Amino acid sequence: MVRGGREILSSVVSSQIPLHAPYGGVVPELAARAHLEMIAPVVDSALAGVEGGWEAVDAIAVTRGPGLVGCLIVGAAYAQSAALARRLPITGVSHLAGHVYSAWLTDPGLEPPFVALVVSGGHTETIELLRHGEAVHLAGTRDDAVGEAFDKVARMLGLGYPGGPALERAALQGDVRAFNLPRTRLERGFSFSGLKTAVRYAIRDLPSGERGDGDVPRRAEVRDSLAAAFQEAAVTQLVDGLEAAVEETGVSSVAVVGGVAANRALAQAVRRRFAGLRISVPPLELCTDNAAMIGAAGWHRLAVRGPDPEGFDVDPSLVEFA
Ligand code: KG4
Ligand code: ZN
Repeated sequence: MVRGGREILSSVVSSQIPLHAPYGGVVPELAARAHLEMIAPVVDSALAGVEGGWEAVDAIAVTRGPGLVGCLIVGAAYAQSAALARRLPITGVSHLAGHVYSAWLTDPGLEPPFVALVVSGGHTETIELLRHGEAVHLAGTRDDAVGEAFDKVARMLGLGYPGGPALERAALQGDVRAFNLPRTRLERGFSFSGLKTAVRYAIRDLPSGERGDGDVPRRAEVRDSLAAAFQEAAVTQLVDGLEAAVEETGVSSVAVVGGVAANRALAQAVRRRFAGLRISVPPLELCTDNAAMIGAAGWHRLAVRGPDPEGFDVDPSLVEFA
């Protein structure tokens, strides 16, 4: 629950990581079922932490897209029913706008215009938030999202699921110079499939005794150094792309948001490269998916566009940043 778009009164997250871990990735059908089971208890416990409970609620924000259709439908149906029953205005928010607003939510000094680097399991984008409710897309990925690349490389290295945090931990122990991986620099946009393939070839080219079951590096030292080299290359590509966005727009504030913004090496590299700018990186629990960011984005969406009509549809491939 969020007040005034910027104050978190309660935040409850039900993680599905243990559910999907045995499969090495998200299983859509299981995800939707778990949403169905958890949505009422999660909303109840968010309201239990707030004086007045439902009586204190003025409006409802719910994710309209992008995402898995089954999960979006569960959320939208629940939120629309509650809005109808309680005669509350409702707004259908973009998950991506939610990530952008996670920075605004946690940094009281941050105001548009600013550039956001949105880095998650499904997206790698730079956008400029011109003013509340209005964003322009600057660049996106041509192939894999960076979070997806972290997850796939983690799997190649035998690091398990979810890959991003595991890969970051492994990289801390590795020697970043032990492997030389390519960086893809595009005029406009990002690409991570070349880097991912380079890791695959580096593993393939290890002496056969260095590869264990499932073709993962046998020695932790080799695994960790590959993780470090991959992370360094991925982070450099992201910071280069952010720099291009900053040069193009001339903004003096940047935000790094989305699950991959939880990566400390990325935050450090951004701080180093843009020492003269205002830099916002939300705390870890607001980088990865959460409802508080949807509340913050929804607060503005409602103010700018008014409520959505009853029974609006979800949009699994929605691209909207404000
Ligand atoms: O925003 P998010 O929670 O969900 C999506 O909207 O996709 O992002 C999840 C992504 C996953 O790919 C995960 O591996 C990545 O964020 N991630 C990380 C880290 N923590 C989460 N990637 C790199 N380093 C991390 N510490
Ligand atoms: Zn997300």
